[in-house]
Amino acid sequence: MAPRDTTNLFPLHVAIIMDGNGRWAVNRGWPRLAGHRRGAERVREIVQACPRLGITHLTIYAFSTENWKRSTEEVLGLMSLFRRYIQREADRLRAEGVRLRFIGDRTRLEPRLQRLMSGIEKLTEGNDRLHLTVAINYGGRNEITRAVRRVARAVARGDLRPEEVDEEVLAGRLDTHDLPDPDLVIRTSGETRVSNYLLWQAAYAEFEFTPTHWPDFTSDELGEILDRFARRERRFGAVAAP
Ligand code: FPP
Repeated sequence: MAPRDTTNLFPLHVAIIMDGNGRWAVNRGWPRLAGHRRGAERVREIVQACPRLGITHLTIYAFSTENWKRSTEEVLGLMSLFRRYIQREADRLRAEGVRLRFIGDRTRLEPRLQRLMSGIEKLTEGNDRLHLTVAINYGGRNEITRAVRRVARAVARGDLRPEEVDEEVLAGRLDTHDLPDPDLVIRTSGETRVSNYLLWQAAYAEFEFTPTHWPDFTSDELGEILDRFARRERRFGAVAAP
C-alpha cells in the first residue's frame, strides 16, 4: 500500500483492542491458542506498517486484568507467546527504531517475563520512530486505582496538598504518564465495548469498530480506517469551526 500523506496527522496515537483470536481459531476447528499465535503475527505486520501510515504511537491490548479467568492452558499459552515475542523481536524492533513499553500491573506476572519486559524497555529506550506500548495485565480501573494510591501516599507524606490534586497530577501517576492520549481506538471482531481499556486516556478519542477478527486484520484495513479518521471533525467539547 502507498505511503500516506502524513503532513497534518502528527503525532497520531492509535490504540487497538485485538479481539477475535479465539473465534477465528474455533471457526476453523483449531485450538484458541492457534488464533493467538496468528494474532501475534498480525502484531508484527501492523507494527511494521505504522510508520508508513503516519502512526507515531501504537498501544495494543494483549492481556486484561480480567483475562486471568480463562483456562490455565490459555493463560500460560499467552504468557509464553509474550515471552517469545519479546525474545524474537528484540533485535528487529531496535533496528526498526521502535521503542517498546508496557503498561499494566506487572507484579502478578512471572519474574522471568518481568525481566524480559524491563530488558527490552531499556534496550529500545533511545528509539522514537514508533512508540509501541503493550498492555499486559492491564485494566483501566486498576490503573486509575494504583495512580490514586500513589497520590494518596504523596499526600500522606506531606509532599502534596489535597487541593493540589488535579487532572494533571493524576495523569502524571498513570502508567501512561509519558505518552500522549490516544486519538483513535480500534476494536476488531464486531464487539462494541470498551472493556476497561484506557478509560482515562480515551476521554476524547474517536472509536472505530470492525467485524474483522484480529488475525485477519491487515495494514490495508488499518489504512482505510485512518482515511475515515482523517475526515472526522474532532471538537474536544468545543463547537464546530464556522
Ligand atoms: C482477544 O481475543 C485477544 C487476547 C485476549 C489476546 C491478544 C493477544 C495477542 C494478539 C497475542 C500476541 C500479542 C503480543 C503482544 C505478541 P479473544 O481470545 O478474546 O477472542 P474471542 O473473543 O474470539 O474469544
